[in-house]
This record gives sequence, structure tokens and C-alpha cells, in this order.
Amino acid sequence: MNSSPWWKEATIYQIYPRSFFDSNSDGEGDLPGITSKLDYVKSLGVDAIWLSPFYTSPNKDGGYDVANPRDVDPRFGNLEDARELITQAHKRDLRVIADIVPNHFSDQHEWFQAALKSKRGSKERERFHFYDANEDGTPPNNWISLFGGPSWTQVEDGQFYLHLFDSTQPDLNWENPEVNADFEKTLRFWIDLGVDGFRIDVAHGLIKEDVLTNHPDPQGLSNALRLDVAMDSEERNALLLTVPYFDRQGVHEIYRKWRKLFDSYTGREIMAVAEAWVHPPVNATRYVRADELHQVFNFDLLTAEFDSDVLFDVVERSISLNATVNALPTWALSNHDSPRVASRIGDEQARALALFVFGLPGSAYVFAGQELGLPDGQLQDSDRQDPTFFRTNGAIKGRDGARVPLPWSGDTTPFGFSTAKPWLPISQSWKDLTIENELADPKSSLHLYKNALELRKEFLVGAGGITWLESSQHGHKNDSLLSYSRGSITVVMNLSDSAKECDAAGKLIIVSGGTVDARDGKKVIPARSTAWFLT
Ligand code: NOJ
Repeated sequence: MNSSPWWKEATIYQIYPRSFFDSNSDGEGDLPGITSKLDYVKSLGVDAIWLSPFYTSPNKDGGYDVANPRDVDPRFGNLEDARELITQAHKRDLRVIADIVPNHFSDQHEWFQAALKSKRGSKERERFHFYDANEDGTPPNNWISLFGGPSWTQVEDGQFYLHLFDSTQPDLNWENPEVNADFEKTLRFWIDLGVDGFRIDVAHGLIKEDVLTNHPDPQGLSNALRLDVAMDSEERNALLLTVPYFDRQGVHEIYRKWRKLFDSYTGREIMAVAEAWVHPPVNATRYVRADELHQVFNFDLLTAEFDSDVLFDVVERSISLNATVNALPTWALSNHDSPRVASRIGDEQARALALFVFGLPGSAYVFAGQELGLPDGQLQDSDRQDPTFFRTNGAIKGRDGARVPLPWSGDTTPFGFSTAKPWLPISQSWKDLTIENELADPKSSLHLYKNALELRKEFLVGAGGITWLESSQHGHKNDSLLSYSRGSITVVMNLSDSAKECDAAGKLIIVSGGTVDARDGKKVIPARSTAWFLT
């Protein structure tokens, strides 16, 4: 079945370039390394790749600290390598989504260097948020950076600049038209080079209001905003309603302008997906109004428990809220900022949940390594590189565990990723999880993903909405089964620790783990498993 435009129900594979494949033996992945593995990517059955940043960067925040957004960092290659990657992806009918980082630049960007050399009130400083200290010398407000520590750093003449993330990531002042003009130049640069879309980093953060107002619980708020800090969900949601620097109305004006720019490339279907973690959830739909962006990430599955009530609510809410603006949801179980799903909820549960979401309407995002069932890497503190670890004096371990390089082949670490020492160590315990090994094992997680994505394309893409069959609100009120039908497929997930009977009709076409028993018209779904039936 076809879904038009291409991105609507695409499966998108997120590649963290530093961790994918090292082609030049320096221990870090690079663009030619990705190009050399595009046949593998294609074989997964995905439609597009999203590349985390590969731009010129001092790499204080994994490349999300951009010093030149229109060039490639030498650690990843050069512009020719980027062009070749895009060309080779297109040859395989894979679209390419670049990551754009508009909330901040690196402090090494020429604009910030110029601002440091210029006077208070100068046009160079007007591109960022520079403010005078309070009378007692303290920073202009009490906000805590999302990476810990104050959101303000003082420069030589006594002024402070705002950084919601690391001190090396000064926030840009989007009230200054020069900033948008520069970003439009960057968007055009990459579209002209061939990219098909953008993932917009911190899309909800560009406009700041009330910069001089303190927050009643700045540390709590900073923790609540982190996907890798566990917190009671009520406490988190209450804090998230109070963020003073996210989701201001002005951001929508920016995306309306950008949408016009994307649409001016007639025949290209340029898309953009917003990283906009906003509360209450209905606010996310504003980013995907008809004249704004195309998709907005739904982060709920990155933190949701493996519980039928919780998952029913997340899925139902996302589908119905998006429907109010005629958009389809997105689904992501892992990314480079959150613990890997297999570590967070368990191996079998992660496979079951993946098969459950691959049946749903909308776009599915898969973080490289998720298809292998990789857990988080176990790291020593001396290995860590995430700025959060340093800014919190080790209190928050950070996101490096999800960023450990991919194991490709062989019996010994680093499993073909590199011939040098990898930038983060790969544990010898990943021996059975290499791509080579999983390709040889028909019961592997890798085969589950490949088979599921093929079936998704064949039976589900473009098949319309879902009808719940079994959930806390439907069917027999069985609290351990979640089930829906969509098109010719019935999807049943058993969340419990014992096998459960269901009366799904049709022929079994895939199961995430174990064996489905069929007797007397009933089917028995194994514990912690999902099955698809074709009628
Ligand atoms: C979100 C990105 O996904 C994350 O990796 C980064 O640290 C922050 N934005 C800041 O750019």
C-alpha cells in the first residue's frame, strides 16, 4: 500500500553518526562509514534516515553545539562526503533527514566569538541573550540549565549570557531577524545539497519570555525536563506546566515562515519534525497545524511503563489529539537522549512494544541499535562524555549509555565498529548481539524488525485508523491484553507474565517472542509478547 506524501507513515532510522561505523580507524563513526552501510539500512525496510548533527563542532554536547551549521566537522568527513551519502541514500530510495539546532550555537561560532569581543548593547551581543548582573552581582534569574548548574555564564565585562544547556551553547535571540535569516540560509543550504527534511532540535525553545523572572523550583524543573531522570509522573507533569522558556506562542510564527520555505521547493516534499516536549500534550498539536511543521515527536513511549492502562492512554491520546489537526502521530521507543528501551522495560517487553507500535498509524522512529535489542552500554565514570555528568558533578550519569557504538561483526570487542579504540567502550557481553550474529539467527530481534517492517509496508501503511478490541476501556476489560484491528490486521499484545487467551480472528503472521498456541478458535498469546493476525 502507498502512503502519500512519503513521510506520513514512514519508518525513520535515527543514526548517531559518531556511533554507527568508523571508516577511517579513528575510533569514531563518520559519514563515509554510514554510506558504506546503507545496504544494511535499506535491508531493514526503513524509508528514511535521520542523521544526528555532523556539523563543525567542538563536540561539547555530541555535536548539538554547532560552530558552523553549513559545514561538516572533520571528525565526520567533509561536504563531499555528505553529498555522497545523500546521493547513495537516494539511489536506494532512502530519504535523508538532517538535524537542525536553532535554539543555540556553540560558543565557538563566529557570532559568539564576535559578541565576546564587542561591547554590551552591541549588535553582536543582540544575537544572543546578554544581560547585566543583578545589583548584588548574581545572574539575571535563578534558572537551572537542563544539563545542571546555572543557566547563566558571566563574561569579562560582567554581563551574563543565557544557555539553557551547556555553558558552551549560548541561546540565540530569535527576536533578532538576523537569526532567522541565517537559519533560512542553512535550511536552503542543506535542501540544495539534497536533504529531504529536518529534525528540529528544541523546536519549542526558540522564543524566551519573562527572562528576568525567577522560577519557584528551578532544580525540580530542570530534572523534570530530562528524559533520563526518573520522576513520579504526577510530579513531573505538574512541573512541566510551569516552564517559563518553552512553548511560547512566538515559535509558531517561525515555523509558519519555514513551512513556506519548504513548500517553495515544489515537487520535493521537504518535511520537518519538531522535537517539542510540551505540556499539556494538546499543545504539541499546534506544531503540526496545516501551515506549520509536518510531524512532532511524541516522547511518551520513551518513559511509559509496560502497563496496559498507561500504554492505552498514550496511544489513544496521541492518535486523537493529532486527529484534531488532521495529523498522524509519531512513535519512538528509544533515542540518543534516553535509556535504551530494552534496558528500560526488558528485552521481551521491548520486542513486544515495537511490534505493537509498528502496526499503528503514523511514523515510526527506530534508533540505530534498537533493531538489535541493544541494552544501554555499561560505562565507567572515566568513560563518560555527556556534559550533564560533569555539570552535575556525577549526580546524573547522562546519556552516554545509549550512545555506545554499534557491534557489527566478529567475536571480540569492538566488533568491527572500528579498528581503533572506540570513543566509548563496547562491552564483550554484546558478542551475541552483533549484526552478523543476529542476521544468522532467524529468531533474533533484527529479524523481528525486518519481518515486521516488511509486513507493515504490505498490510498497514495507509490502512487508516485503529479500532480498539481489548483494553482497559474496551473488550472484556482484561488488564493484561491490549489489542486493536487496523485494515486486515489484528494486533494483540500480552503484557502479563503468563500466557493469555484471546479470540482474535485470522492467521498468525508474526509474533515478537515465543509461540502462539491456537486451539478451538482461540489463540494463546505468550507472556510479554505481541502477535499480528491477518484476516
Ligand atoms: C536535544 C538533543 O536531542 C540533545 O541531544 C541535546 O543535548 C539538546 N537538545 C541540546 O541541543
